[in-house]
Amino acid sequence: MTSSDKDIHRSVVRRGLTPRPASAPVVTPIWPSAVWRSEDADALDDQYEGRTQGYAYAREGHPNWHILAEKIDWLEGATGGLITGSGMAAVGAVFLATLKAGDRVVAGDQLYGRSLRLLKEELPRMGVEVVFVDPTDGAAAAAAITPGTRLVLVEVVSNPTLRVADLGTIAAACKEAGALLAVDNTFTTPRILKPFEHGADIVIHSVTKLLAGHSDVTLGYVSARDAELAKRLETVVVSYGMTPSAFDCWLAERGLHSFDIRFERAQANAAALADHVAGLSGVAQVLYPTRPDHPDHNRAMSLLGGQGGAMVSFRLKGGRPEVNRFLRAAANIPFAPTLGDIGTTLSHPASSSHRALTVEERAGLGIDEGFIRVSVGIEDIGLLTGEFEAAIAEATR
Ligand SMILES: Cc1ncc(COP(=O)(O)O)c(C=O)c1O
Repeated sequence: MTSSDKDIHRSVVRRGLTPRPASAPVVTPIWPSAVWRSEDADALDDQYEGRTQGYAYAREGHPNWHILAEKIDWLEGATGGLITGSGMAAVGAVFLATLKAGDRVVAGDQLYGRSLRLLKEELPRMGVEVVFVDPTDGAAAAAAITPGTRLVLVEVVSNPTLRVADLGTIAAACKEAGALLAVDNTFTTPRILKPFEHGADIVIHSVTKLLAGHSDVTLGYVSARDAELAKRLETVVVSYGMTPSAFDCWLAERGLHSFDIRFERAQANAAALADHVAGLSGVAQVLYPTRPDHPDHNRAMSLLGGQGGAMVSFRLKGGRPEVNRFLRAAANIPFAPTLGDIGTTLSHPASSSHRALTVEERAGLGIDEGFIRVSVGIEDIGLLTGEFEAAIAEATR
């Protein structure tokens, strides 16, 4: 090795050039380090025993992970929440942390498709009994939540028919039966409802959606009311390797800063778009929770405080040919299987989220070939109503 090779090793391979300026950055830094160094073994002991705060290995925690979790905790009125690599990782963490063979789970029958698949295909394989109920029918749901039920999982507003769950009755039944109530708050967000204030024990999010808001990151969040359960969740997340990267957490934190104002605008747009589309001759039905013609209008006014959210669904007159013509005519609005982006997106449940169901099963949920779900963005409302009006006219003329 020449002396200049040694210099390269000293100055390039060795790190230790971290600047320690007297001033501080305004923006949260990104800490991509997979490992953290400690002063000595005693210092590491102090850290692991909780006498000091620090990091050792990024899968067990890193600053961007904690910062994002704490901000979502503030929104949900939670403590000790965790960020996971996706919304499904958060759902999976709840199952892994709470269930064992022989347990019984009661779940909403219109949950997000992948959650339904986990419940239908994976949990029974592990010896867990799963019972599905219509969460809008409080009495039927309460009857299914028998003593011995370990976990109940619901979404407050269903996808894509935007039905509103009878959360009060379900929470009361869980309390009586000693069951844990987990609420996936992705659709409603803490802007509409904070599940912990309604008796939930666990709150789940797909952060991918409205909270991050820009379709450039896939993340989840889970928190528990009980400190011991929160610790169990952390063990599962860390041990099964569900911890996300620093950059993803940083991106989501940046998106989260504008969540409140984005949500307000998207929700106002959604309410206006729903009313506009309802007046068009090519539309057979519009579903928006706070509209007087919605089947759960009263519950939307009480439980959701009159906030209908950022999603609108409608049925075009006709079937697949009309839907295809509509999607092509609305070429500036992405037809993409997501929701919660700053820009409006369209989805067609019969060919995407609900394609695994039979025609009869879909009909039972009120979904036919003409059914379209809109995730409403923050565009100018005049632009949106104009685009929808023109595309619906083109599709149904
Ligand atoms: C209500 C709900 N929960 C969970 C998920 C899963 O989240 P992710 O796609 O981030 O895994 C989704 C995804 O669309 C969702 O809509």
